[in-house]
Amino acid sequence: MIRILLIAFITLMLMVTWGIARELTREEALDKQVKSFLDSQRGKWRDMNVPESDGRLLYDLIIKNGYKDALEIGTSTGHSAIWMAWALSKTGGKLITIEIDEGRYNQALANFKAAGLADYIDARLANAHQLVKELPGPFDFVFCDADKGWYKNYFIDIYPKLTIGGCYTAHNVYDTRWARLRGSGTFEFYEYVKNLPDMETTLDSSGNGLSISYKKKP
Ligand SMILES: C[S@@+](CC[C@H](N)C(=O)[O-])C[C@H]1O[C@@H](n2cnc3c(N)ncnc32)[C@H](O)[C@@H]1O
Repeated sequence: MIRILLIAFITLMLMVTWGIARELTREEALDKQVKSFLDSQRGKWRDMNVPESDGRLLYDLIIKNGYKDALEIGTSTGHSAIWMAWALSKTGGKLITIEIDEGRYNQALANFKAAGLADYIDARLANAHQLVKELPGPFDFVFCDADKGWYKNYFIDIYPKLTIGGCYTAHNVYDTRWARLRGSGTFEFYEYVKNLPDMETTLDSSGNGLSISYKKKP
């Protein structure tokens, strides 16, 4: 009897170990595919895409906070979406990303497939002015990188759908004298979000200017 129990226990442990090993292998295989795709594209992104440093920043924010329900406004050909979806593949999440230009949208789809990340991305060909209002949410991570003059409107539409503890990021945001004088759309958004009492906003200027706003408890 003891021998049977022992064999059953060893078999169970072997099955568990094998299962874990298989899971690791799948994650490692995806990491390899994403890395090799990003390496092959380094220096070739030409469609207003984020620099690699900003892609890494988005990746780190998602991993650090374990975010799962992400939204991107402005896919272009998918560089930032690939960094976010890669992180979401590890947190068990998914990204919705919106692009209005059909050519760039199709190229993004091809890139998502080549990177091995298509399963983690729900790419929509649409005008975000409309779709952002219609998407139910909730979202715990948002990256805004489309038409700059509409940044504040996007934020106002998404704000009620952003979870407490969630993070709203926006690209090409600068707090310089020139930005204040020129009164660009991204600066108008930044001024607005920075002064909301339940949003805690900082600016990361290591790449192309990323505002990072966390939603606090009211
Ligand atoms: C700066 S690019 C995005 C770059 C992308 N995030 C990346 O790093 O790969 C901005 C994109 O937003 C798209 N866009 C502009 N207005 C839009 C709208 N109203 N709805 C959806 N997409 C829009 C543009 O077509 C363009 O491809």
